[in-house]
Amino acid sequence: MITPESSLMEAWNEVLNEVGKAVLEVQHPFRYTTLATTDKLNSPQQRIVVLRDFNGKSDFLIYTDSRSGKVGEILNNHSVSLLFYHNEKRLQLRVSGSAAIITSGEQYRKLWEKHGRKSPRSYTSVLPPGTEIENPTEAYHWQNDEQTDFCLIKIEADKMEFLQLNGIHHIRAEKIIRKDKKTTRWIAP
Ligand SMILES: Cc1cc2nc3c(=O)[nH]c(=O)nc-3n(C[C@H](O)[C@H](O)[C@H](O)COP(=O)(O)O)c2cc1C
Repeated sequence: MITPESSLMEAWNEVLNEVGKAVLEVQHPFRYTTLATTDKLNSPQQRIVVLRDFNGKSDFLIYTDSRSGKVGEILNNHSVSLLFYHNEKRLQLRVSGSAAIITSGEQYRKLWEKHGRKSPRSYTSVLPPGTEIENPTEAYHWQNDEQTDFCLIKIEADKMEFLQLNGIHHIRAEKIIRKDKKTTRWIAP
C-alpha cells in the first residue's frame, strides 16, 4: 500500500510491480485495461483489452485483430491511453503514450507461436470484426490459422499517473517519460 510516508521511488515501484504481475496472473485486476483511441471524427473510443506484456518501465503490449477498428484508429492517430484500476488496493493508473502496430518480425512470430496460435479463433475469423451480419451465428467461421490477422499493439508511455485512494489522504503522482524530459513528482489529488 502506498502511504503518505512512501517515497516517490517506493510508490512507483509498487505501481509498476502490480502492472508486471497482471501479465502473469489471470485474476489480477490490472489484467483487463481500458484502451482509448481517437477515431477519424476526433471522437474518443474505448474498449477493454488484455494486458499481454510489460517491460517493467513504460512499454505495454496488447494482442488484437489487425482488421479491428482500433488498429485503423491507431494508424491514423498514434496517441492512446490506458486506464487501470485495482479495486482491493484502491489504486488507479492512467497511462498516455504512442502506439505502434506490429504485424511481422521476430517478436511477432514468437508471440504468435506462444499465444496467438493457441487462441486462433480470436484472430482468424472470416468476417472482419465489425462487419454487419443478420444474426450472431454468421460470424462463426474461421480461416485456417496460417491466414491470421493476429497483430501486436505496442504502447510506449510518455506519461503515467497514479492515484492511491486513502481515506481523505489520497496520494497522486505523475511520471513524465519523454525523450527530452524525464521527471517524477507528487501532485495534489
Ligand atoms: C474482458 C475482455 C477482454 C478483451 N480483450 C481483448 C483483447 O485483448 N484484444 C482485443 O482486440 N479485444 C479484446 N476484447 C474485445 C474489445 O473490447 C473490443 O470489443 C474489440 O476488440 C473491438 O474493438 P474495436 O472495434 O474498437 O477495435 C476484450 C473484451 C473483453 C470484454
